[in-house]
Amino acid sequence: MKTLVSHEIEAYAQAHSMPESEVARALREETQRTMDYAQMIVGPLEGAFLKMMAQLVGAKRVLEIGMFTGYSALCFAEALPDDGQVITCEIEAETAELGRKYFAQSPHGKKIEIRLGPALDTMRELTGPFNLIFIDADKINYLNYYRRALDLLSPQGVILIDNVLWDGNVLKQPPPDEKTAAIQELNRTVANDPRVTAVLVTIRDGVLVVRKKT
Ligand SMILES: C[S@@+](CC[C@H](N)C(=O)[O-])C[C@H]1O[C@@H](n2cnc3c(N)ncnc32)[C@H](O)[C@@H]1O
Repeated sequence: MKTLVSHEIEAYAQAHSMPESEVARALREETQRTMDYAQMIVGPLEGAFLKMMAQLVGAKRVLEIGMFTGYSALCFAEALPDDGQVITCEIEAETAELGRKYFAQSPHGKKIEIRLGPALDTMRELTGPFNLIFIDADKINYLNYYRRALDLLSPQGVILIDNVLWDGNVLKQPPPDEKTAAIQELNRTVANDPRVTAVLVTIRDGVLVVRKKT
């Protein structure tokens, strides 16, 4: 799991936060055993943070951009009321399939709808409002996801954007590659967007928390 703090601090914070569910733990462990790039999943500490954010905004509808094997989607579903809904977008059918297996084992799985295909196309088709939108897919499109997310967000809703510290690479000038440049541009755009207020939280690889000004 990516983290910019020491592993001891990460473990301490995790031990003093709400624990992951049994199904989420099993899904995480199978992902780590069987999948390349398993470090992409948010993991237990950020998962607890996502659940807390969903509960704080009283979310009923959550949109996730970037499902992978479904760990964060399951965290959101666990935080929603019985009639809540998580729409999660993923381009790779194979990774989504692993998620499906675990969603079927959870009493919260029925709240999750998987939308396969390029997330920008799915976002164009969707109708808001969503109370929480989590952006965690291809970094090159982060700014496009952010722009469409603002259209789909409810007035009191929150956008969460993952990996905005990009392993510390956001500090580098000039940016070493396209992905770093895209994340830097996103962070700059949000900081200067008069429609929103934001805080960049230094949990794991950095989470940008954005809401519309009231
Ligand atoms: C960082 S992982 C998501 C991790 C997941 N949120 C979790 O914590 O369990 C990013 C995912 O975005 C998917 N992805 C990349 N480009 C995409 C696109 N254009 N549309 C939809 N999904 C995409 C990748 O296949 C990958 O599974």
